[in-house]
Amino acid sequence: MNAQELIDTAKKLVAGDKGLLAMDESNPTCNKRFAKVGIPQTEEARRTYRELIITTPGLNESISGAILSDETIRQHNKDGVPFVKVIADTGIIPGIKVDAGAKDLAGHPGEKITEGLDGLRERLAEYGQMGARFAKWRAVMVIGDGIPSRGCIEANAQALARYAALCQEAGLVPVVEPEVLMDGDHTLERCFEVTEEVLRTVFHRLYRQRVMLEGMLLKPNMVLPGLACIKQETVDEVADATVICLLRAVPAAVPGITFLSGGQSAELASARLNAMNNGSLKSRLPWALAFSFARAIQQPALEIWQGQESHVLAAQQVLYHRAQCNRAARRGEYSAAMEKA
Ligand code: 13P
Repeated sequence: MNAQELIDTAKKLVAGDKGLLAMDESNPTCNKRFAKVGIPQTEEARRTYRELIITTPGLNESISGAILSDETIRQHNKDGVPFVKVIADTGIIPGIKVDAGAKDLAGHPGEKITEGLDGLRERLAEYGQMGARFAKWRAVMVIGDGIPSRGCIEANAQALARYAALCQEAGLVPVVEPEVLMDGDHTLERCFEVTEEVLRTVFHRLYRQRVMLEGMLLKPNMVLPGLACIKQETVDEVADATVICLLRAVPAAVPGITFLSGGQSAELASARLNAMNNGSLKSRLPWALAFSFARAIQQPALEIWQGQESHVLAAQQVLYHRAQCNRAARRGEYSAAMEKA
């Protein structure tokens, strides 16, 4: 492991006002999103879509790194150039999702454990050779009656820590993603409590596995009320709760926090990130607060594309716009007026 290289890459990923673009949906997830808008669920359709994304003019103005899936990192553009090269040539750092998905956790009805540690050392070496410089692993925690359990939180935190240590050994920056889901009717206060407990447990396990905090990024959920909760807090209230929770649980040595969007609307995700990077909260942040959105950057473009060649330019314009909105949110300069422009 070259510690300085890890630190430099982690810093570069959250430098200035840029953020990450997650485009690492597994094939089943990507197919589900395609099916909803009537796009054929084929390998070629997925390849064409990913080519649309990475060839969006000006994407590198707002995107520092792109997270690919195992299928995508092996694909080429229509001229036969590997996607990793196409991405790196625009100055965007290629990354890779390395978990094998969330499976049912034995003995814990309704809870998940993320798998993928077996053979991970070898896979990381291969991805590194292919040009990946960082890697992502997502753990999922559901809020419900009596859950998440300690057993679920600890098992996922341990897996995240083992993955992160292997990444650093291989020279890849781990993007550690413990996601507390928005599904349910729980309150913002409950999400706060669960998110704080999850993050404290994750950082304890990262410490035990000797993960260098300066050479990693955290990809958490924002602190939000459940989608079905009657009380939906304002943008500023969500920003306050999220920053207070993170200040309590995330060591200042971590260079950056790159939020997932988790099913928030694209506009709300931008507005909430903006509120955290704006006004009085900003001066309290020891880390960069950035984004690593999938749906909140891609979804509007996907709906316009619909698999049609003639819609590619319009879809790229919308993708560019969403990325720019989040870039503005990093500076605390996003406003609803940007959506009308
Ligand atoms: P969303 O922004 O759509 O939640 O996706 C982020 C991600 O990478 C999930 O693992």
